[in-house]
Amino acid sequence: MMFLLGVLCVLCVWSPATLTGGLGSTPNTIPRKTVPVSSNGGRLFREEGVWNYTTMLLREDLNMLILGAREAIFALDLDDITVKKAKVYWPVTNKEQKVCSNKGKDAANDCKNYIKILHKRNDDRMYVCGTKAFIPTCDYMSYADGNLILEGKQEDGKGKCPFDPSQRYTSEMVDGVLYSATSMNFRGSEPVMMRSSEESIRTEFASTWLNEPNFIHMAHIREGDSTPEGDDDKIYLFFSETAVEYDSYTKVDVSRIARVCKGDLGGLRTLQRKWTSFLKARLDCPIPNNNLPLLVQDVFHLCPGNWTTCVFYAVFTSQLDSFQYSAVCAYKIEDIQTVFSKGKFKAPVTVETSFVKWVMYSGDVPDPRPGACIDNNARRMGFTSSLDLPDKTLQFIKDKPLMDQAVKASEEKPLLVKRGTAFTRIVVATATALNGTSHQVMFIGTKSGSVLKAVNYDGEMVIMEEIQLFEPSEPVKILRISNTKLYVGSEVGVVQLSISECGRYHKCLDCVLARDPYCGWDLNADKCSTINSTHRTRTSTMIQSLSDGDARRCPQTDDSKSVSVSFLHDNTVKLWCQPYSNLAQVQWQLNGQPIKASNTFQILSDSLMIFNASEDTSGHYTCSSVERNYTTQHVAYDLKICKKENTLVAIVVVLSLILAVLVIWNLCKGHLSLPFCHSRVKDTANVCEQSLYENQPPEHKLASPTENMNSNNNHVNVQRHSSSRETDRLSSTVGSSGQISLKYRDGESEI
Ligand SMILES: *[C@@H]1O[C@H](CO)[C@@H](O)[C@H](O)[C@H]1NC(C)=O
Ligand SMILES: *[C@@H]1O[C@H](CO)[C@@H](O)[C@H](O)[C@H]1NC(C)=O
Ligand SMILES: *[C@@H]1O[C@H](CO)[C@@H](O)[C@H](O)[C@H]1NC(C)=O
Ligand SMILES: *[C@@H]1O[C@H](CO)[C@@H](O)[C@H](O)[C@H]1NC(C)=O
Ligand SMILES: *[C@@H]1O[C@H](CO)[C@@H](O)[C@H](O)[C@H]1NC(C)=O
Ligand SMILES: *[C@@H]1O[C@H](CO)[C@@H](O)[C@H](O)[C@H]1NC(C)=O
Repeated sequence: MMFLLGVLCVLCVWSPATLTGGLGSTPNTIPRKTVPVSSNGGRLFREEGVWNYTTMLLREDLNMLILGAREAIFALDLDDITVKKAKVYWPVTNKEQKVCSNKGKDAANDCKNYIKILHKRNDDRMYVCGTKAFIPTCDYMSYADGNLILEGKQEDGKGKCPFDPSQRYTSEMVDGVLYSATSMNFRGSEPVMMRSSEESIRTEFASTWLNEPNFIHMAHIREGDSTPEGDDDKIYLFFSETAVEYDSYTKVDVSRIARVCKGDLGGLRTLQRKWTSFLKARLDCPIPNNNLPLLVQDVFHLCPGNWTTCVFYAVFTSQLDSFQYSAVCAYKIEDIQTVFSKGKFKAPVTVETSFVKWVMYSGDVPDPRPGACIDNNARRMGFTSSLDLPDKTLQFIKDKPLMDQAVKASEEKPLLVKRGTAFTRIVVATATALNGTSHQVMFIGTKSGSVLKAVNYDGEMVIMEEIQLFEPSEPVKILRISNTKLYVGSEVGVVQLSISECGRYHKCLDCVLARDPYCGWDLNADKCSTINSTHRTRTSTMIQSLSDGDARRCPQTDDSKSVSVSFLHDNTVKLWCQPYSNLAQVQWQLNGQPIKASNTFQILSDSLMIFNASEDTSGHYTCSSVERNYTTQHVAYDLKICKKENTLVAIVVVLSLILAVLVIWNLCKGHLSLPFCHSRVKDTANVCEQSLYENQPPEHKLASPTENMNSNNNHVNVQRHSSSRETDRLSSTVGSSGQISLKYRDGESEI
């Protein structure tokens, strides 16, 4: 009973009806198309003996992808990453490795140099940091005359690059100055967010500032250029940490957004060489029926116009593995600003002697406001830099950097929720649809090594594709996007994908129902094309329907194949039919009547199984699929069961074939190999299964006989797809029809 309920529950969550998110239930989304590794159209880069391709820098000026891996840096062609332009090694020395392993680290893995930081500097050189066997080190690198050259500067990388290669960290280069968030010590217990300029500035070592954080992402928002308040640029930091604000006996983590001002120089006495503008707030991404907050895993921002239009897109996963939900939430910069510049603070109060509770602070807030950047208001008051700020303001922020209010997701709900998949990374691109409207297309990396391509149309979550990338599967560790391409890094390799592959949609219906803002059906060219500016001026020849998936303008085509299949009595028959969408419902009909699952028929997602095929099951089979009220017929089969007389004929035919086989066998014996002889048998013995393979390419068969399922038959029930195994299958099919089988087999064994 429980099992049944469980099944029902899974069904209701997975049914397309809940795609738009039923009230009360947690919404879930199924990718419309699953693109396997074999047909993803991507290009893979990996080099023998090199691992951990998890740091990337797009150098569009050089048309290169700079790729950091373990002990090596590559320069790859941005248009085709399989073209390696240059490579430079940066290994650890034996001595460094020995020192590291003496401190108890794994020599073969941890005590290597993992490249973690790659930034472009203002002077055309690049700044590179590696873990260097737990002695983080940085260097300068340039690309010249087809070579990558490391200068060997060996700068101290403490606070910039993690010691431990498996620890999360983040960094950003702002006007030639490195901002970083990582752990500063060997044990990984001193987290900092810092700026490495001559006057380097960092966070306090205090759990009120950073409490066992996991650093995720950093972003520079160039606000100072255009603000009437004379405000400063901000550097935003995304991370998760142990919460202080929950009344909970167990440890609860929360997601945070923090920010500092670019011009911060620290305080004069209080907060000397520490941020005076470090403020943090909870980052909410609420999903129904979930009590523990989701944790942020990656962030990407888009600013279509000036900085006021910036939106942060963040992926989240649940903190308990048993409750596997992932979500994408978007945050508007103005909502973030409001929380930091107008919101209330939280303050610790001690209750019952030792227990500290964080509650809203309702006392007086000093002026200038704690954590504010130096703006026109502060300048009017005579404060021209953070060094001038009064102790009262500084002491306040030192004790209370946490805001009371959380930063809420726009629309206060996620753009996307998915169960059973762990999102790891995200990038977002803006696509201009046929009618000129812009849509944000999300590319989401997953732990299982795929990229989801998704859009939210007015609250409706749509995952157009799930593109599988690594086999065996390997978590996506980094995503980068250029105008037309996507670069996906993992521990084992990098894949380059095109952001739109409209050619994947072969039919008008498929193209339009995909609702991909990049693609439309070109009525003139009769194919699914990438929308360009020409199409936008001649919209009458293109079909695209993003919010409705309205495909009524698609031309009617009937190109379903009809295949004749004949089978021996009592066999098990499998008829293939693969709809082109995971959202389509497959419908099978026999002589115009819908087929229901029974002892005889089993309806699978890609095929129909017919057990004990008899006269009753012969007839005209059609397979169609229905998606959004559009029906497509994919294939039709005429199934004929060989009758007794036919069987007799078949026996005669097979017997004579055996004779022929014997002759051929003898011919083959001396000089030809066995498989050849087998394939000979197949070609001719296949009378009763006539024309099955002839009209199909071998790798994509529509129907295939499978082994008899009778228990008195000891053949193993393995379904074979590859053409190389056709001979095996044949012998067991023929074998399942009793006498002939024996003779055939005997004949074989006699030889
Ligand atoms: C580097 O890649 C290897 C091979 O996939 C993996 O086993 C190892 O965990 C990776 N190391 C780090 C620090 O991610
Ligand atoms: C930013 O752009 C919006 C419209 O695009 C405009 O209304 C606003 O004034 C601009 N803000 C600044 C600070 O330039
Ligand atoms: C747009 O695509 C069509 C093919 O679908 C092509 O003929 C046309 O030249 C393209 N226009 C531009 C501006 O790229
Ligand atoms: C373009 O299409 C979208 C729906 O796909 C619609 O919401 C929008 O109003 C349309 N814009 C124009 C300019 O027609
Ligand atoms: C197929 O028929 C045999 C006897 O003809 C019977 O024993 C077996 O249970 C049938 N199998 C199915 C799946 O109906
Ligand atoms: C399908 O058709 C039914 C009845 O005509 C209609 O109520 C429903 O909205 C349609 N669904 C879609 C997705 O178009």
